[in-house]
Amino acid sequence: MASNSSLSRDAALARAAELHTQLHHHAYRYYVLDAPEIPDAEYDKLFQELQALEAEYPELQTPDSPTQRVGGALLDELQSVPHRVPMLSIQTETDTTAEGARAFDARIRKRLGLAAEAPPVDYAAELKFDGLAISLRYENGLLVRAVTRGNGEQGEDVTANIRTIGQIPLRLQGQGVPPVLEVRGEIYMRRDAFERLNARQREAGERTFINPRNTAAGAVRQLDPKITAQRPLSFYAYGLGEVVDWTQAPETHSGTLDALAAFGLPVSAERAVASGAEGLVAFHQQVAAKRDALPFDIDGVVYKVNSLALQRELGFRNREPVWAVAHKYPAQEQMTTVRDIDVQVGRTGKLTPVAKLAPVFVGGVTVTNATLHNQDEISRKDVRIGDTVIVRRAGDVIPEVVSVLLEMRPPQGTASEPWDLYKRLEGKCPVCASDIVREEGEVDYRCTGGLFCGAQRKQAILHFAQRRAMDIEGLGDKLVEQLVDQGLIRTLPELYTLGVAKLSALERMAQKSAQNIVDALEQSKRTTLPRFLFGLGIRHVGEATAKDLARHFGQLDRIMDASVEQLLEVNDVGPVVAQSIHTFFEQPHNREVVEQLRAAGVSWEEGEGSASSAPRPLMGKTLVLTGTLPTLSRDEAKDMIEAAGGKVAGSVSKKTDYVVAGAEAGSKLAKAQELGLTVLDEDGLRQLLQG
Ligand code: IVH
Repeated sequence: MASNSSLSRDAALARAAELHTQLHHHAYRYYVLDAPEIPDAEYDKLFQELQALEAEYPELQTPDSPTQRVGGALLDELQSVPHRVPMLSIQTETDTTAEGARAFDARIRKRLGLAAEAPPVDYAAELKFDGLAISLRYENGLLVRAVTRGNGEQGEDVTANIRTIGQIPLRLQGQGVPPVLEVRGEIYMRRDAFERLNARQREAGERTFINPRNTAAGAVRQLDPKITAQRPLSFYAYGLGEVVDWTQAPETHSGTLDALAAFGLPVSAERAVASGAEGLVAFHQQVAAKRDALPFDIDGVVYKVNSLALQRELGFRNREPVWAVAHKYPAQEQMTTVRDIDVQVGRTGKLTPVAKLAPVFVGGVTVTNATLHNQDEISRKDVRIGDTVIVRRAGDVIPEVVSVLLEMRPPQGTASEPWDLYKRLEGKCPVCASDIVREEGEVDYRCTGGLFCGAQRKQAILHFAQRRAMDIEGLGDKLVEQLVDQGLIRTLPELYTLGVAKLSALERMAQKSAQNIVDALEQSKRTTLPRFLFGLGIRHVGEATAKDLARHFGQLDRIMDASVEQLLEVNDVGPVVAQSIHTFFEQPHNREVVEQLRAAGVSWEEGEGSASSAPRPLMGKTLVLTGTLPTLSRDEAKDMIEAAGGKVAGSVSKKTDYVVAGAEAGSKLAKAQELGLTVLDEDGLRQLLQG
């Protein structure tokens, strides 16, 4: 923002104050309300303007500046800090049924000396977030310190880390903020953020994290705030620590949370004021029903007597508040043993090892299977048959084995062998016995029996039938689902044995539609070699590669018999692709399918291949098509250009050699003219193709 350098110091100060206010407001809309008013790019612009001002006038860089969230200097150790008001824990009600709520209400009524006919007590009912407790100290509305719970008397100063969490306001908003306000709440990680983080770790071949709670806690207690800044953390406020001179202090707990929300702090909307035992029971059940659908883990709900006056009257016992209780739900992590390890084959041929477990009740259901993801994960965790493991099931996520309790491993016997997927399967797909492979740089093993493998049938048929492959109109998901599930077709060639009689026996299939499909099947038999090749669904062979292969070899048999070296001679085919094609045609099953398709009448015109000396005048040239050409469709023009060795790109750039423009050409034409590129019409293209 060079223009700011012209600002006087006073003007810079005023502008910085304006930017602070705007950025705080937009951060609140974005992080806390999840309802941004401006696009990210606009926010970034304001942010960069402030950064530029601060670079010029470093005194503007106050601790509450929105620029101070990125993560400061590395710490040697976390400093221990006393809590002015201790951070206590609460009693836990472990009876996970409704009785737990009734027992708490009965205790409260007894302590308050209420007669049976006295009116019900009001409770603030909340979620029990499963993360790390934190105390945020605001002085005159500014965040000055963030401290973990520690032993309750003193915790660790994690202010630099906490500043990196977008949801935590650096400055409180609104009227009536007391001069000192300690806000207590929970730092947690959303489940989707946790899953994404682990997926990234898995892809990078790095250690995965066990659960969102441990990950959040570890991130907060980092010595390097830059690492915390990279962890997607969230926060909910649920209470108070030290408070000084709050003139408009509410008289209820629920009112306190409303006030905190008005100050710009995140407060969960999943809360209620519940009346008496039955109100608590209803809340407990409502939350239980939506527990899996919540975007974060909870391990229970918390009930608090809502009136602060009654809270004071009830006081504390054994360093726990008498007026609050945590009512638990069934745990989302449990211990069990691995009876066996199976391998499942997915729709795309991916092999996933699955632990067969001694049945265990976890996250509210009985679990007998848990994913082990892939061989690398098994090796890293060293999961073996017979091991005692921790299983986690939270939300809709598939149950997984998160760790092995090594100290419980039997000294001898089956569990002494490290488990190896390839060895266990002896290199063969458990469904179709085709070879399994693991490509370099990939974590998954795959079955190479694409067309033949029962597990991949539906996917293979849909791929084959799609418009850009065999173009069998009307053969969509629903129909393929029915055909395969009812055993009407098992292999691709059997598609061509479908008649009107078989088809019209299916659900919601009229005679007429059945006839249309039979016609579409008949029509699809006349195809081209690139379409056929693409339709086979060979891994890494997309449309472009299929065209390159067809052009290079001219005939299918030559491709099927090509060595890896010969395949490598094809335009744009590298070692991974060459190996994949070679492996595919090495499987006798796949060759059989090709033969059967030909026998069913699928045919195309074969050529000489570019081993022949057909001229390729557009070799190395990039063209862009725009508008409607008088006689050629876009696909036809594309095929002709590619046959001549050229490439068709989607957008115009300096690297574009020619732009072919037809009627109603729009911005691409304008861009071409701006860059001074050669623009052709259809005739011009035809001339170019002549060479
Ligand atoms: S109130 C004096 N409310 O559960 C009462 N705690 O033992 C202070 N927690 O580690 C706690 N959600 O971090 C309260 N809605 C909630 C909570 C909650 C989670 C955690 C808290 C503490 C533990 C209580």
